[in-house]
Amino acid sequence: MAVGAGVTRHTVGDRVLGASVLPYGGFGELALMEEHTTFAAPLELDDAEAASLYVGYQTGWFGLHRRTSLRPGQTLLVHAAAGGIGSAAVQLGEAAGARVIGVVSGPDKADVARRLGADVVVDRREQDFVEVVKAETDGRGADLVYDPVGGETYARSTKCIAVEGSILVVGFAGGTIQSAALKHALVKNYSIVGLHWGPYTQRDPALVQECHDALSALVSKGLVRPLVSERLASSDLAADVQRLADGVTVDRVALQA
Ligand SMILES: NC(=O)c1ccc[n+]([C@@H]2O[C@H](COP(=O)([O-])OP(=O)(O)OC[C@H]3O[C@@H](n4cnc5c(N)ncnc54)[C@H](OP(=O)(O)O)[C@@H]3O)[C@@H](O)[C@H]2O)c1
Repeated sequence: MAVGAGVTRHTVGDRVLGASVLPYGGFGELALMEEHTTFAAPLELDDAEAASLYVGYQTGWFGLHRRTSLRPGQTLLVHAAAGGIGSAAVQLGEAAGARVIGVVSGPDKADVARRLGADVVVDRREQDFVEVVKAETDGRGADLVYDPVGGETYARSTKCIAVEGSILVVGFAGGTIQSAALKHALVKNYSIVGLHWGPYTQRDPALVQECHDALSALVSKGLVRPLVSERLASSDLAADVQRLADGVTVDRVALQA
């Protein structure tokens, strides 16, 4: 291990997390990292948990506290709540004092969403999330929708968004990039908010560090702890990555040396 010339925030031997520099890759014992996307790993977390406190949690924090402002007592609807991105939003929503409704497919993912702390879990194979959200909010709807799925999931979310609520467009895991019905947004007074975390690492590294500090504080308080369901000493890396792409994994998958 070594630190480059001019690096001041880290020294050899520090336990760190972050992103490796492309195209050099990260599936190895050694990785090349840039100073501004390398952060101190919280002592409370083991290596796999600490490695998980990055993209998903940063994206969640920017979504809930930068692009929108989630307040205690509000209702947060999280799609793909057992997925990599959604699972972080569930924990961060709970940490912010919101009432979290998580949508998943199947009983195993429902268990994961409950373990993450979701107040209400909807199995989309068995229930219509629109009806559940309306029932849970006395017809008012969700104040904030965190949507990494898109397509029909987005379209249905507009049927249970509260007046003056916001829908965070986070991703298109369902494979369809939807169009927004702007007249509906106008008539119902809700906001459609885009969220793309990656550019912040270049445009505003100080804010990304602020986010990491906030996440580390939540970890210290015991309010956030990444769930890592799979810790792989992989023999077939391509197959493992394909399972991620197929949406069949839950919460975090960590590759360990
Ligand atoms: N905006 C940003 O800055 C940002 C940052 C990182 C990632 N993302 C995006 O966020 C999305 C989710 O990433 P992730 O890491 O959470 O992925 P993931 O762990 O694979 O989770 C995706 C989940 O989407 C749900 N889903 C619903 N319909 C699906 C379909 N047709 N095919 C596959 N999955 C489907 C599945 O959950 P259920 O089976 O429970 O429904 C699946 O577990 C991706 O599109 C990614 O590019 C955005």
